[in-house]
Amino acid sequence: MQPPDFYDVAELERIAVTRWTSGLRSFIQGGAGNGSGVRANRLAQAKWSLRARVLVDVSTIDTSTTVLGVPVDVPIMIAPSGLHTLVLPEGEIATARGARAANTVIVLSSGTGRSIEDVTGTGADVWFQFYWGSYRGQVRELVELAGESGCRALCLTADMPVPPLLGPEFRDGQAGVAHGRPLYLPPRGQYAVTGIWDHDHRLTWRDLAWLRGVADRHQGNHDG
Ligand SMILES: Cc1cc2nc3c(=O)[nH]c(=O)nc-3n(C[C@H](O)[C@H](O)[C@H](O)COP(=O)(O)O)c2cc1C
Repeated sequence: MQPPDFYDVAELERIAVTRWTSGLRSFIQGGAGNGSGVRANRLAQAKWSLRARVLVDVSTIDTSTTVLGVPVDVPIMIAPSGLHTLVLPEGEIATARGARAANTVIVLSSGTGRSIEDVTGTGADVWFQFYWGSYRGQVRELVELAGESGCRALCLTADMPVPPLLGPEFRDGQAGVAHGRPLYLPPRGQYAVTGIWDHDHRLTWRDLAWLRGVADRHQGNHDG
């Protein structure tokens, strides 16, 4: 097996940032508000470690598992993040190829810079992340499109009923990527000007029944 070009994720991050503008760095690495969420996430993650066991036959290992019934080769999935095209023109197509090679799931952001069909066309197992705005017709259309394009599951982002706090890093990040065009979302910086936010403030768990009804009718040939 070839050793990777980097030693761990922190080293990969150090290599990557040298290729980015400062605006792009703020968008990808920065948090909203005062950054306390990012700090808390890093601290929480540092508490995890692999438990070493000795004198165990490791000549063949199996890291596969299942996520909501879907088999994956590694217990790692790709979380949704917008506009991979800012980093590489191929954008989410390249990310999906990586997911496919690792035989795991990519959760495609509705802020993708590449079309859903281009991404599912890689043959990767694609789940689709979306926000639920005030216009139900738009939600329905997007969910239908995701199903018809071959996404196997939906991931609703429900933790942003109000726009994030505009801390300095967030403002830099938004300005730095203002040229990026997410395909199925209004540009993220828009609400700072218009006040329009794509989350229906009235949403509750009960609304998921409606969503399930729409999604079930548009599964296409997929199981999800
Ligand atoms: C640059 C960036 C873009 C993101 N874009 C999205 C998005 O479009 N949709 C979404 O639901 N979450 C998005 N997220 C949130 C991530 O999916 C994830 O929930 C968050 O980063 C917390 O996980 P972490 O602690 O592993 O980073 C984004 C995060 C980052 C850093």
